Amino acid sequence: MKVNGQAYRSIWLAADGVGVEIIDQTQLPFRFVVARLDTLEEAATAISRMLVRGAPLIGATAAYGVCLGLRSGASSAALEEMAVRLIACRPTAVNLRWAVERMLRVLLPLPEEQRLRAAYQEAGRICEEDVAANEAIGRHGAALIASLAEKKKLGEPVNILTHCNAGWLATVDWGTALAPIFKAVEQGIAVHVWVDETRPRNQGASLTAWELVAAGVPHHLIVDNAGGHLMQHGLVDCCIVGTDRTTASGDVCNKIGTYLKALAAFDNQVPFYVALPGSTVDWSVDNGVAEIPIEERGQEEVLRLQGQDDEGTLRAIAIAPAATPAVNPAFDVTPARLVSGLITERGVCPASRQGLLGLYPEQGK
Ligand code: MRU
Repeated sequence: MKVNGQAYRSIWLAADGVGVEIIDQTQLPFRFVVARLDTLEEAATAISRMLVRGAPLIGATAAYGVCLGLRSGASSAALEEMAVRLIACRPTAVNLRWAVERMLRVLLPLPEEQRLRAAYQEAGRICEEDVAANEAIGRHGAALIASLAEKKKLGEPVNILTHCNAGWLATVDWGTALAPIFKAVEQGIAVHVWVDETRPRNQGASLTAWELVAAGVPHHLIVDNAGGHLMQHGLVDCCIVGTDRTTASGDVCNKIGTYLKALAAFDNQVPFYVALPGSTVDWSVDNGVAEIPIEERGQEEVLRLQGQDDEGTLRAIAIAPAATPAVNPAFDVTPARLVSGLITERGVCPASRQGLLGLYPEQGK
């Protein structure tokens, strides 16, 4: 996607072919800062401090983290240690484990001296596949938006509500939930996006809104509590969200607050779609509520708000009494019964085991 007319991905190999460059998402929407990663530890810190975030991008960063780690030792024991370190960075997004395990499957059978080169190749493939998958998600999702547009009066936009950031910044490019929107706009379909601010870290306000401004997509920012009201008044034609882990039975784990939006959508007969690449399906898990580990983040994210003051200084301010404690679960699980459909790179399917196996039959063997 373009930033000030220049095409960017969210992660890329530096010009020297060794280091890895990322966009520091903690600085957006106020500053566009590129950061360089040279060690596994820097990659791990970028993931856990959320300079990079979003399930597919976390996976891609971890894959490059393995490359960076191999520069200081390529034994099998070292590789296993790297995997443990990287997977521990964030527990919920399954793409992290998926990418690291994929790297190990490719690298462990190789002689040590071949591992570094093979690692960079594999990390590159993970990135390219992510871009292709998200573009395909965009095409399939845009067809759904097109069918909603047919029911609108001429020139009236399709109103889409999204939660958190599942745009190109959450992936290597295109995004998951935003890819259908970008594609629909490309096709000349009138679209308007309701952007949930997404407390506590405000990925909607800071990242989704920034992406939509850059792409010229009409949108409004809303507080997280406004979605139900808008749905009751017929102002939302569908919801499209991303996911950090979807179970084999179609339960969807995503940013905290997604479940409440799905409940409101269900009550108002608003279609609720989830966009995801196959790498986000955890085939080993069935019941999302019972089995998916939910990341608990620090209470300061709830007790303080970060933003830019009128002088252009980034500041965090307290919003609660100093003595008030907070809890901060980062994700929740929306049961499959509340999900109208899963938009994948292979097409749209019901949120169910049968639906997913229809698109990914190789997982049933
Ligand atoms: O904590 P984050 O910002 O990494 O969480 C990301 C999300 O939950 C997004 O909503 C997204 O849908 C999943 S990644 C495409």
